[in-house]
Amino acid sequence: MAKVLCVMGTRPEAIKMAPVILALKKEPWAQVRVLATAQHRQMLDQVNQFFGVAPDIDLDIMQPNQALTTLTARLLLDLDDVLQSEAPDAVLVQGDTTTVMTVALACFYHRIPIGHVEAGLRTWDMQNPFPEEANRVLAGKLARWHFAPTQQSRNNLLKEGIADRDITVTGNTVIDALLMSASRELEIGVDLDPARRLVLVTSHRRENFGEPFRNVCRALRALAQANAGVQFLYPVHPNPNIKGVAHELLADLDNFILCEPLDYAPFIGAMKRAHIILTDSGGVQEEAPALGKPVLVLRDETERPEAVEQGVVKLVGPHFDAIVQETQRLLDDEQTYRAMARGVSPYGDGHAAERIVGILREHFA
Ligand code: UD1
Ligand code: UDP
Repeated sequence: MAKVLCVMGTRPEAIKMAPVILALKKEPWAQVRVLATAQHRQMLDQVNQFFGVAPDIDLDIMQPNQALTTLTARLLLDLDDVLQSEAPDAVLVQGDTTTVMTVALACFYHRIPIGHVEAGLRTWDMQNPFPEEANRVLAGKLARWHFAPTQQSRNNLLKEGIADRDITVTGNTVIDALLMSASRELEIGVDLDPARRLVLVTSHRRENFGEPFRNVCRALRALAQANAGVQFLYPVHPNPNIKGVAHELLADLDNFILCEPLDYAPFIGAMKRAHIILTDSGGVQEEAPALGKPVLVLRDETERPEAVEQGVVKLVGPHFDAIVQETQRLLDDEQTYRAMARGVSPYGDGHAAERIVGILREHFA
């Protein structure tokens, strides 16, 4: 038996790692162990409940308004003990969070091979997104297996000198997870007016903290005031740098609902119900096109260019004028709307986890 330790820290890692964990558990050669660093607490737990994943080890690391260096230092100390006592044959990480970078480094020091799920996403700008671009570049340098979601992410890795034989294009497990939720109850749990169109918003990126995020909120405010017949729903990320500003600038508007982060299934329900989605989230940029929803990205760059190239996602940055103009155009112009609501899935076909497990099986079984 090979012991495979699957690691998750935040909400998106739990969502995108769940299909891999569930697929690995069916493999007779694999002893699957799940490590939650719990860089996120509530947002992580609700995802694991949905997928029926129970972490074997939980570092419970989250602290309010945690700083990146402190988080990294505390994680490294805890990981030393875990890697020593677990002694896994391989460790799987997903994405580009501080958990991923730290686990990759700790595994490297312990000489344990790492599989990187969602490998090769790049903007080629270390400041955007911050700190994720650095996290994924560092994790990529240290990984043994690179599970690239798309051909473009594979090309990025080749450009960095990663050997072709170590890269597999698998698709993104986010689509596996999305399809798993298709047959489930997706009740949103928020009182929405069925007669009104819905604009769904999410935002949490660190590089937008401060004035850029205030601009986003000012633009949302202007849009809500100009479109009384449209409802806006914004499940607010609990990061204090986001939550305070969002409530300060948007809470008093009649047609703007601010709520706690939605659990995964209700959020899928909200995406399905939405007319337009405004977001800076990576995962939402991948899911929304598959659901046929136009996406305006509140960033200047994206490591997910595939949907932009297909014309179903557009970058508007954290810029007042662009956010207002492009959202208004989608609300008013039927032709523009239809062109962006085509329903394409450049990020996966729902079989990414099978392909990842296939590579590990070849190696271990
Ligand atoms: C983190 C990741 C980011 C990822 C995002 C997904 C890093 C540096 N950032 O950003 O890449 O896109 O998660 O959402 O790895 N909090 C809670 N409850 C929770 C989760 C967070 O209260 O369940 C609050 C805490 O005050 C916490 C703060 O949010 O300290 C920030 O959490 P952190 O994981 O450091 O950063 P995120 O902005 O969530
Ligand atoms: N999501 C959720 N509830 C919400 C907002 C988002 O469950 O209120 C899900 C969403 O479907 C996607 C993931 O969380 O799968 C994205 O996480 P997030 O935006 O926090 O991180 P990112 O993808 O930007 O790293």
